[in-house]
Amino acid sequence: MTVFRGTVLDTPDDPFTGGELRSEQDAGLLVVDGVIRARGPYVEIRRDHPQEEVVDLRGGLVVPGFVDAHVHYPQVRAIGGLGLPLLDWLDRCALPEEARLADPAYAATVADEFVRSLVQAGTTTALVFGSHFASAVDALFAEATRVGLRVTSGLVVSDRILRPELLSTPQRTYDEGRVLAERWHGTGRTRYAVTPRFSLSSSDDLLDACAALGKDVPGTWFTSHLNENLAEITEVARLFSRSVDYLDTYDRHGLVSGRSVFAHNIHVRDRELSLLAAQGAGVAHCPTSNAALGSGLFPMRRHLEHGVPVALGSDVGAGTGFSLLKEGLQAYFHQQLLGPAGLPLRPAHLLHLATRAGALALGLGDQVGDLSVGMAFDAVWLRPPSGTTADLVLRHATSAEEALAKVFALGTTADTAGVWVAGERLHG
Ligand code: GUN
Ligand code: ZN
Repeated sequence: MTVFRGTVLDTPDDPFTGGELRSEQDAGLLVVDGVIRARGPYVEIRRDHPQEEVVDLRGGLVVPGFVDAHVHYPQVRAIGGLGLPLLDWLDRCALPEEARLADPAYAATVADEFVRSLVQAGTTTALVFGSHFASAVDALFAEATRVGLRVTSGLVVSDRILRPELLSTPQRTYDEGRVLAERWHGTGRTRYAVTPRFSLSSSDDLLDACAALGKDVPGTWFTSHLNENLAEITEVARLFSRSVDYLDTYDRHGLVSGRSVFAHNIHVRDRELSLLAAQGAGVAHCPTSNAALGSGLFPMRRHLEHGVPVALGSDVGAGTGFSLLKEGLQAYFHQQLLGPAGLPLRPAHLLHLATRAGALALGLGDQVGDLSVGMAFDAVWLRPPSGTTADLVLRHATSAEEALAKVFALGTTADTAGVWVAGERLHG
């Protein structure tokens, strides 16, 4: 048993539907076997548990562990390829690097770098786009398990358009995916996600194989890309002439459900939003990637008006880093830039998007995403190094809301002073 002491901020009540930021100065959280069993003013928790070890996290803020709803494991080293639109960026920056993961030793090194990067950023749960190589996906699951992160991931599959080393077949998609899913789905903190790269690189037979795999290993997740870039969308429409829109290319194969998460969804039609909402499928908004590739401004207001669950994704390596603080700030910027079509976001919205919204989109809302009694103690201690601008500015915040705004405005991964998953410290 441990008592964690600090200023705790979270969003158990959705700020998008009127909930307020919950903030408690000098709170105490009693954690037993990784789960929060009591919470309240520190003096009261301490009075009731005078013998327990106290972890003092005063100074800075304690927030729920971040949830990254879309991030590519084989692209850590591809971060920073600026100046290209999606399809050129894939050809020149991302896919040559992804091909290197055919080498298991290389993949093991990248898996270590990737998991380390997530932890450094304060990300404790992630939906991860895996690799096209089964051995590399194994390496990721093994490393995530060793470190203790909550990772949902899978073999990325494609059978056309990409460079030949990255292509598979419907049969291999099923067979290799089945072995991985049976090994890792529901094992400890890992889960399996069936992952066709995008419709552009998937035949109907491949998408059928994905659907069969998802059916035969119950409870698995599904993730892919959707409506990211105009050239991509035009080409998908040409290749799938029977489909009425991009989402329909997945829906025809039964791949849109409450266990599906689609990345981007910028250039979306109302029919698609209605279908996503009806099925309970989530969308990962990836603002730094959308800006870096010039993909467009995300219509968050339309998603929320239709009732589509929206979470945040770093989309590394098109995204410019692992920090969900940066993604939150950029999400705020993009809504500002949309003018009247944008959704004005307050700090509580940004925290919610980076934490609880991700947990809900990944079906983990009963375990992680806020720091209520009954939830796992997955948390980040944000404490800027002494003397930095972020430290000075944070010290002068006059309210919790203001402190949170300052953390999103100035925070970087350097401000991650500690990270816990289920009460175990991973970093700091
Ligand atoms: N669409 C298909 N593959 C990718 C990828 O790796 N990154 C992004 N941003 N979009 C994609
Ligand atoms: Zn992506």
